[in-house]
Parts: sequence; structure tokens; C-alpha cells
Amino acid sequence: MTITITNNFHENASSETLGSLKLRSDLTTLKETLPLFKLVRQDQDITMLEEVAQRFKHFKNVIVLGTGGSSLGGRALCDLADEPETTLHFYDNIDPHTFKRLFKKIDLKTTGVIVISKSGSTAETLMQKMVCLQQWAAQSLPIKDHFLVITEPTENAMRNLAQSYDIQTLDHPTDIGGRFAVFTLVGLLPAMIAGLNVYQFRNGALDCLKSLDTSLMEHPATQGALHQQTLLSQGKTISVLMPYIDRLNTFALWYRQLWAESLGKNGKGTTPIAALGTVDQHSQLQLFLDGPKDKFFTVITTHHMDPEFTITTHLNHSNISLFDQKTMGQLMAAEQQATIDTLKNNGCPLRHIHLDEINEYILGYMMMHYVLETLAMSSLLNVNAFDQPAVEEGKILTRQYLKAA
Ligand code: PA5
Repeated sequence: MTITITNNFHENASSETLGSLKLRSDLTTLKETLPLFKLVRQDQDITMLEEVAQRFKHFKNVIVLGTGGSSLGGRALCDLADEPETTLHFYDNIDPHTFKRLFKKIDLKTTGVIVISKSGSTAETLMQKMVCLQQWAAQSLPIKDHFLVITEPTENAMRNLAQSYDIQTLDHPTDIGGRFAVFTLVGLLPAMIAGLNVYQFRNGALDCLKSLDTSLMEHPATQGALHQQTLLSQGKTISVLMPYIDRLNTFALWYRQLWAESLGKNGKGTTPIAALGTVDQHSQLQLFLDGPKDKFFTVITTHHMDPEFTITTHLNHSNISLFDQKTMGQLMAAEQQATIDTLKNNGCPLRHIHLDEINEYILGYMMMHYVLETLAMSSLLNVNAFDQPAVEEGKILTRQYLKAA
């Protein structure tokens, strides 16, 4: 399986910048030292997860609690699964209405709960978990049979709470941050429960990473960052990612978080926007085409050659006869090409990524591509991709306000 990512954003986008030297040195260091890159080069950790995945496959539903990087990657992966026997439900918010609706809808007896928090101190995830514990306890269900926690092997609230209920607790790697954690048990365990081939997912990630060994500066991710630096210098401050594939909708949300939280620092960064074709043709596309010229685009397409849903109609109305003997996929293919051409005709910088198939390997490859592109961009912008200091103030205030409530 091959994926070709060509950074044809703009004919004038140069790949040589003043930051190239620093970029080469930073990428070389990361390539040799980043714990995430070491992790994807082996698969013993996956073997160890098989037993836990089996335990959760016995449930009809599995609720995954967590937020940000502890939720989006796993969700994006699970969106590949066609009708898994166990249905995964990702809850990343704390709207009481949503939880009331959830408890009305599912049978707790046949539902498992996986709670993910690297730090073990995220208020939202702790609240979600305590709410669920009370629900299961109220029905006298054996908590330790239904719950599992993933958190760092440190002294933290999530781990303490798990111990007090005798809940099995798996270690979140201490050296891989939330938004980079999709390649760890955080993304893999939910995917295994959904019946996906996570070895293929890792292989895709690894193949993308390996090509860094042979072509550090020519790697599409490095080139992508270099092109985006040029675009940024031309006032293009907004990066739109628009797949024409429903199964990649959450992948675009995952990208948005990775890009925003890793790069938006010290007044720097580009603003990521997640869009979905064709839906956003009827929502954001007008702005994309005719609003401020401050955006660049990555459109992801596939063949949509599925022969299902061929229309047969004899109605003699031009707007209907057009559909005769055409499939739903053909309309999708026509629309994605039309958007690409319209963006180009309107002078919008565009990168087109075409995927022959959508599967675990491809998603692993694409996610690693974006991790690399993010890291390359952080080097060019001279920001630390691995922290998020600005959001800490809000967390401190939240605790104060809750205490006073
Ligand atoms: O990417 C990140 O670091 C964040 O989005 C975290 O994943 C998010 O804040 C949740 O943190 P934790 O896993 O510690 O609960």
C-alpha cells in the first residue's frame, strides 16, 4: 500500500527557509530520542493488551471516558470499525444532560467503562468517573468487573480512586503526551475492542516514520511544514483540513487538537479548522472561497467507487434524469473534484491527498504524518510542541470556583 502526499500547496511556496538548518537538527534529535518513535518500532505492548481487550469484548457497550488527547485518537480509530459487536461510546464532556440520556439508553449490566487520564487529575474525567461509579454502585453491580483505568504510574487522584474500588489500572506511558498517545494503549485498546487490526495501524505509522530515515528534509511531513511556513509568511494563518470521507471526520478533529495545542504558543501558530465534504460545502465553503484570503487547504479524497446505490429513474426532469444509472459514490467523487477545482480557480493554496483505501494502515500512516508535520512546524516556529501552559490558569480557576460553589 502506498500513500503519496505531495505538497503542492502553492506554486510559489518555497521549501528552502532560514529555519531549514535548525529543522534538520531538531528532526534528527527527535528521530533518535522521542519515546513515541521507539514505541512504534515494537509491538510487545499490543500482545499484552489482548487479554484486556477480550475482557471488554464481552460487553455489549463500552463507554470510554476521557478528554482531549485521551479521547480523540481512540475515537478517530474506532470510526473505522464497521458494526463492531461491542459498541464503543466516547464521552469527552461533562454536560449532565448527555449523561442522563446515556443512563436512560444503556443497560449498565452489559456495559464496561474505560477511564483514561494521563495525569490522573483532569477534573472533567474525574467527575465523569465518579458519576459512573455511583450509577453502577446504585445497581449493586460489581465495579471491578466493569471498570478499567488507564493513567500514569504516579501518585494521582485517578489511580487512588481506582485502588479504592479495586479497579484494574494500566499504566499510561509517562513520556508520551495525550495528543500523541493514539499509538499507545490509549488509542489501541478501544480499537482492539472494536475489532480493528492495530498491528496494521502501527505498521502504517512505522512506514511513515521510516521514510524519515531515508529522506529527512524531503519527507512529505517536513516539506508540508516548510510550505506552511512560507504560506504563513504570506499571511495565510488558517489551515483547513477537509476530508471527503465520513470515517475521517474525527481524524480531522484529532488533527485540530494536535495542531492547536502543540503550536499555538507565544503569539505563534496557525489556526486549524476541521471541515467535512460534502457537508461543509453547504456551511463553510462560501467563506473559504470568498472570505478573507488567509487560509490554505488540505483536501483528502478517496475513489468512492462503491457500486452500491445505483439510481434508476425514468423521470424526464433534467435535475433528476442526471442521476439515472449513477451511484451515490459517483456523486461524491464529482463533488470532491468540483471543490478541488473551485478552490484552485479561486486562488486558494491547496494540498490534495488521495487515499486509495481507508483502513488501519492508512490511518496509522496519516496520523504519523501529521505528528511529524506538527513537530517539524514546532521547530520552525520555535515553540515547544509538548506542553500547553496557557490552559493551566483556567484549570486553577475552575477548582477555586467549584470549591466556592
Ligand atoms: O494532549 C493533551 O495533552 C491534552 O489534550 C490532554 O490529553 C487532556 O488535557 C487530558 O489530559 P489527561 O489525559 O491528563 O486527563
